[in-house]
Amino acid sequence: MNRRRWAPVGLALAVLALGHGAAATDKPFHLLTPFSGAVVHTPQILLVFTVAPTTKVLIQVDGKPTEVTDVLTPGDHEDLHHIRLPLTEGRRTVRVLDASDEAELGALGLVFIPPSSLRTATGKEDRPYAFHTKEKEATCKGCHSLPETFETVADHPMAPAGKVCGACHPSVEAWPSVHGPVAVYECFKCHAAEFAPSRFTQKSSQAALCSTCHQEFLSKILGSRKFVHGPVAAGVCIVCHDPHGGKTSALVRDETPRLCLQCHADTVPLPLERSLHGKVTCTKCHDPHGGQTVVLSASTGNTFCAGCHAKIAENGGHPIPGHPIEAALDPSKPGKAMNCRSCHEPHGMKDVSKADIEHNEAAQRQFCRRCHY
Ligand code: HEC
Ligand code: HEC
Ligand code: HEC
Ligand code: HEC
Ligand code: HEC
Ligand code: HEC
Ligand code: HEC
Ligand code: HEC
Ligand code: HEC
Ligand code: HEC
Repeated sequence: MNRRRWAPVGLALAVLALGHGAAATDKPFHLLTPFSGAVVHTPQILLVFTVAPTTKVLIQVDGKPTEVTDVLTPGDHEDLHHIRLPLTEGRRTVRVLDASDEAELGALGLVFIPPSSLRTATGKEDRPYAFHTKEKEATCKGCHSLPETFETVADHPMAPAGKVCGACHPSVEAWPSVHGPVAVYECFKCHAAEFAPSRFTQKSSQAALCSTCHQEFLSKILGSRKFVHGPVAAGVCIVCHDPHGGKTSALVRDETPRLCLQCHADTVPLPLERSLHGKVTCTKCHDPHGGQTVVLSASTGNTFCAGCHAKIAENGGHPIPGHPIEAALDPSKPGKAMNCRSCHEPHGMKDVSKADIEHNEAAQRQFCRRCHY
């Protein structure tokens, strides 16, 4: 689908009508949105404030000057600023300074908690930030069209007409691969249209939301896999999937292994290039939703490894002809039979090579001595 940015309905007219500082206040600094103590879950936020006309501003985060974009064209509204402020995880103090003498015009505290985090903010001032309350939206009226009810497309009661959201939320649709319902602009399938007290909150953050359309997929996972992956069992699909889109059609928030290492940082030795399967993506061996084994793989033991290394024991033994890889007891693991993992760790380092075994007697002895004295 061909996408372009949409201007807010009625914006041009409204801006003309307000041209002479109607939004200015007597106060030198007036914050329209957000508020101090706002707890936000997006890695950037829009700061809208007014200062005395023609004042150039500087933004500091935790005492350091910060690169920001003021999305308003200079000279457009001389007292108004629309600043897209990037955030890093945790508590941040944002100060707005007069660029000419660095005098503080205003300050606010913000807490950014990424959606995948289980942390909460407990400061006295902290309150969850929702912009789409009647009160906050009212501060933008006159310039932006935010009617109490959005008209919807005639045969699409879940799609706001005129694509009015994209003007303020371009990033939601700006993915190489856009999620099915977002591509047809069915925002209200997942976001409630009514104020309660804020509107457009997601109807659920849990798998229940996804299951309204992916019931078949979910019953396949929950019904046929013996073991379900932790976050899937907890119903939190959105730790891995962005509900709006992604770089690929799987809509994942990050590439593997980074996606997995967020929660399993101590599983694989780093750097990955030195590990046995550094070039094999995690999901080639583990199903991210669930599997037939406790480690979410399709099978266990040598059958699992043979899925990709079928030729290993072709000449009647490995690593040397006649050497057992199964059945015989493993001297290094009392009571267990030999298998590939007697000698190789799937996430381990490449601790033994052909060259070592053939030419490096010390290495050979050290390795073989695990079982042979
Ligand atoms: C006038 C600009 C504007 C328009 C139009 C707009 N939004 Fe927003 N919206 C915001 C701002 C500002 C935030 C706060 C987050 C930020 O700063 O990025 C926000 C936040 C949100 C959030 C997070 C919850 C919240 O209340 O903070 C959702 C969901 C959302 N918008 C959905 C929508 C949908 C759906 C539409 C169209 C029906 C829409 N928005 C139209 C400006 C707008
Ligand atoms: C005095 C008029 C005025 C007021 C008040 C105002 N805006 Fe705007 N806003 C504009 C204009 C004009 C633009 C278009 C900027 C451009 O494209 O150059 C704009 C653009 C935006 C955009 C699009 C930014 C982008 O990425 O292109 C967002 C989001 C936005 N405004 C949010 C808000 C919110 C939220 C409020 C209320 C807290 C608000 N504005 C109050 C005039 C206003
Ligand atoms: C499949 C369900 C689904 C659809 C469809 C959907 N959203 Fe969302 N949206 C969510 C969920 C879940 C969240 C909260 C998770 C998050 O923050 O990533 C969210 C968060 C948001 C946010 C706040 C976080 C952010 O990314 O800025 C905005 C804004 C938003 N949606 C706008 C929209 C708009 C506009 C549309 C329609 C074009 C839309 N959404 C369609 C599920 C959906
Ligand atoms: C309103 C219906 C609807 C909801 C709700 C919904 N989806 Fe989807 N989803 C779709 C459609 C339609 C497609 C595109 C299907 C296709 O192309 O085969 C899709 C595709 C996907 C894909 C890509 C599938 C593939 O084969 O590449 C993923 C991943 C996905 N959705 C995850 C989710 C998650 C996670 C949620 C919950 C946050 C969710 N969806 C909620 C309708 C929905
Ligand atoms: C731990 C991360 C993670 C979680 C949690 C997760 N997914 Fe996925 N999902 C993935 C990855 C990675 C892929 C891509 C699979 C691949 O490349 O083999 C994927 C693919 C998909 C697909 C499309 C491909 C397919 O297998 O048919 C759908 C649909 C999907 N996920 C839905 C969901 C739903 C619904 C939930 C919540 C119940 C969920 N996912 C939870 C990581 C996750
Ligand atoms: C949001 C956190 C999170 C992400 C992201 C995540 N996992 Fe997990 N994973 C878990 C939790 C929680 C468990 C359950 C642990 C338990 O039961 O002890 C788990 C269990 C597992 C297990 C089973 C091992 C065991 O000890 O039970 C495997 C294998 C696994 N994850 C692989 C992956 C892969 C591959 C990815 C990337 C596609 C991934 N995980 C992404 C949280 C996560
Ligand atoms: C070549 C296949 C393969 C690849 C690639 C692979 N694993 Fe594994 N993984 C396994 C096997 C086999 C086990 C069972 C090991 C055991 O029981 O000791 C396992 C066990 C696990 C476990 C549970 C036991 C533990 O060590 O905590 C987690 C979590 C895990 N893998 C995550 C990952 C992640 C994350 C990646 C990607 C960086 C990955 N795996 C890549 C095969 C693989
Ligand atoms: C999904 C396919 C796949 C599975 C399953 C798999 N491997 Fe591999 N394995 C590979 C690929 C591909 C390479 C080459 C990787 C590289 O060069 O980084 C490799 C490389 C290796 C190597 C040689 C590394 C070196 O020194 O160059 C060993 C040993 C190995 N695998 C053992 C195992 C064992 C043991 C298992 C079962 C626990 C297993 N593999 C399961 C695909 C797989
Ligand atoms: C008795 C210990 C031992 C067992 C058991 C073992 N290997 Fe190996 N493997 C080695 C040694 C030593 C090397 C390095 C010598 C070489 O390259 O031939 C090696 C090399 C490899 C290689 C890389 C070289 C090649 O030939 O492709 C792969 C892949 C591999 N093993 C897979 C497996 C699989 C799969 C199993 C289980 C079916 C397994 N190994 C069982 C000791 C073992
Ligand atoms: C994980 C344990 C283990 C390691 C490591 C190991 N072996 Fe073995 N090896 C065995 C077992 C078990 C047998 C079978 C013993 C039996 O049948 O009594 C065996 C048998 C042998 C045999 C006799 C094969 C035959 O034809 O009967 C040779 C030779 C041998 N190993 C050489 C090596 C060499 C060389 C290395 C180092 C590259 C090595 N082994 C590493 C466990 C191991």
